[in-house]
Amino acid sequence: EGTRKESRGALIVLEGLDRSGKSSQCSRLVSYLEGQGISAELWRFPDRTTNVGQMISAYLSNTSQLDDHTIHLLFSANRWEKRSLMETKLKTGTTLIVDRYSYSGVAFSASKGLDIEWCKAPEIGLLAPDLVAYLDISPQKAAERGGYGDERYEKLDFQKKVAESYKTLHDVSWKVVDACQPIEDVEKQLQEIALDCVTECQKGKPLSPLLW
Ligand code: TMP
Ligand code: MG
Repeated sequence: EGTRKESRGALIVLEGLDRSGKSSQCSRLVSYLEGQGISAELWRFPDRTTNVGQMISAYLSNTSQLDDHTIHLLFSANRWEKRSLMETKLKTGTTLIVDRYSYSGVAFSASKGLDIEWCKAPEIGLLAPDLVAYLDISPQKAAERGGYGDERYEKLDFQKKVAESYKTLHDVSWKVVDACQPIEDVEKQLQEIALDCVTECQKGKPLSPLLW
């Protein structure tokens, strides 16, 4: 039957610590959905291709220094600058698989000691995800995987704080997937929950704003 353009796409977000496997799972999920005849695209935040994204990238690689509030607002601005394209894609039937979203924004900044409500405020009014899948792994296990780069937040002590912040953001609607399972098992679980979500959206679940 090919791709269905008459119904809207789903906004599916993967969250988790650095090295939790989000990026590879996001690509696998996009391939899977496309194989099912579903129009799907891989998105990621930060989107480093924009001007704002380049400022974020410089900050993360420690080539620039920014006040904690300032970088928080840049991460948020980076989502706002993609919001209308996101809405258009969803409304024209493309499912978006998004590698990190507002929850990373709040969890990482709150881990530096910023007030959590202050962190949430600029996220209000972005599009609400239809599904948040959390790839659950302990900071210790993630660090053991190796492959932490030299970016600013890729340190065990900070990741421990981020894990705690994510816990305060979890709500019952999140799907928590054990990220320590074999990669194929994680993949299968994500396929199932994503497909359910896409189906719900095709049936007319409305697109809504993120309210917290
Ligand atoms: P990445 O490794 O997924 O490209 O993300 C870069 C880092 O930026 C990662 O450590 C998480 C962090 N981050 C924030 O601090 N705030 C945000 O809003 C986002 C999307 C990511
Ligand atoms: Mg990273």
